[in-house]
Amino acid sequence: MVERVKRVAILGSTGSVGTQTLDIVRSFPQSLRVVALAAGRNERLLRDQVLEFKPSYVHAGSGRLDSVDGATQIANLEDLACLSDVDLVVVATVGAAGLRPTLAALGAGKPVALANKEVIVIAGDHVMAASRDSGAPILPVDSEPSAVWQCLAGESGAVGRLIITASGGAFRGRSWDSLANVSPEEALKHPTWTMGRKITIDSATLANKAFEVIEAHYLFDIPYDRIDVVIHRQSIIHSMVEFTDGSVKAQIGPPDMRYPIQFALFYPERQANPSLPRFDAANAGTLTFEPMDPEHYPCFQMIVDCGKRGGTWPAVAAGADEAAVDLFLDRAIRFTSIPEVIKTTLAAHRPIANPDLDDLIGAAEWARGHALALATGHAIR
Ligand SMILES: NC(=O)c1ccc[n+]([C@@H]2O[C@H](COP(=O)([O-])OP(=O)(O)OC[C@H]3O[C@@H](n4cnc5c(N)ncnc54)[C@H](OP(=O)(O)O)[C@@H]3O)[C@@H](O)[C@H]2O)c1
Repeated sequence: MVERVKRVAILGSTGSVGTQTLDIVRSFPQSLRVVALAAGRNERLLRDQVLEFKPSYVHAGSGRLDSVDGATQIANLEDLACLSDVDLVVVATVGAAGLRPTLAALGAGKPVALANKEVIVIAGDHVMAASRDSGAPILPVDSEPSAVWQCLAGESGAVGRLIITASGGAFRGRSWDSLANVSPEEALKHPTWTMGRKITIDSATLANKAFEVIEAHYLFDIPYDRIDVVIHRQSIIHSMVEFTDGSVKAQIGPPDMRYPIQFALFYPERQANPSLPRFDAANAGTLTFEPMDPEHYPCFQMIVDCGKRGGTWPAVAAGADEAAVDLFLDRAIRFTSIPEVIKTTLAAHRPIANPDLDDLIGAAEWARGHALALATGHAIR
């Protein structure tokens, strides 16, 4: 049987997930072809990627790319996401940037391998409806929803609850009060994963885990009160599903994003990839589980509560968090001010009933602007 080449567009190709997606493409030159690449400001890396992968289309958020022969430059991410010669769109942008392209791809009937979890946090109802309406699937790339998805394979419902694992981030084991003077460099040292800057800070505050709870709620249609979070320091178990009979399935593997990326790219097939590290059970050491202490992670419950309230609330939480993380990375606020900035922004929010897409995007943008303007009140100096 002649295997059909899957033609892939990668949005956010210069980032952590984007570059690891290209690693997988390198491992499967017979089965995967990069048709389109899109990035933000890292023109140098994007140009190198264009020279290596020779896509037909390219988008540079910073403007036109010079000296790239052979690739048509596409000004708009949404147009790039629904090109007729693309079979699968990988959305590996960060924050709100991936929302409209995801909806455009799903609307055009294209499967979306989704890493950019904020897309679902901001507009979960709209994104799931777009997938249902066109029949184009959302293939989770994030390791926790990928684990849940893999645990659910072959099951016919009967899900009791989801157990999402969390490493605990850079400051696990330290009291919240002791974190007032931590630097961005310290917060960017994730104990088990190597990831982009925003998600690494979100992992230290556990805002990331709250986003994943919201993401899992939408992707798997599970009520919030049946999604638990447990601290699992080793990041070997990527999440679990408890079924109604009490049996629990866990998905296990090395903390390497190329596993869930590859699973999404080839779903429903599995492919051997010798370049990935193998799980060595005999030498994996002890796996531990601890309850998550909400006192230690003030962002977590605040953001999950926004998910439960629905409407514009999660979009505001996402926009405020994005701004707060930028402010911390720019040394404009303390690490411990991140939840304060989100809380103050939420307090100023005037929710919109039954928001449409523009309302949700507007709410996230308003929150980002409002949170940035708060910086002076929380400034270090
Ligand atoms: N990293 C991980 O291991 C991981 C794991 C699970 C889930 N995720 C999720 O996956 C998403 C990506 O994370 P990441 O860690 O890969 O982030 P990252 O390293 O910061 O990469 C983000 C990518 O998006 C591009 N980008 C940003 N704004 C853009 C715009 N307006 N137009 C076009 N491209 C734009 C960036 O381009 P430039 O760099 O060129 O500006 C970069 O290529 C996030 O939502 C994150 O939560 C990440």
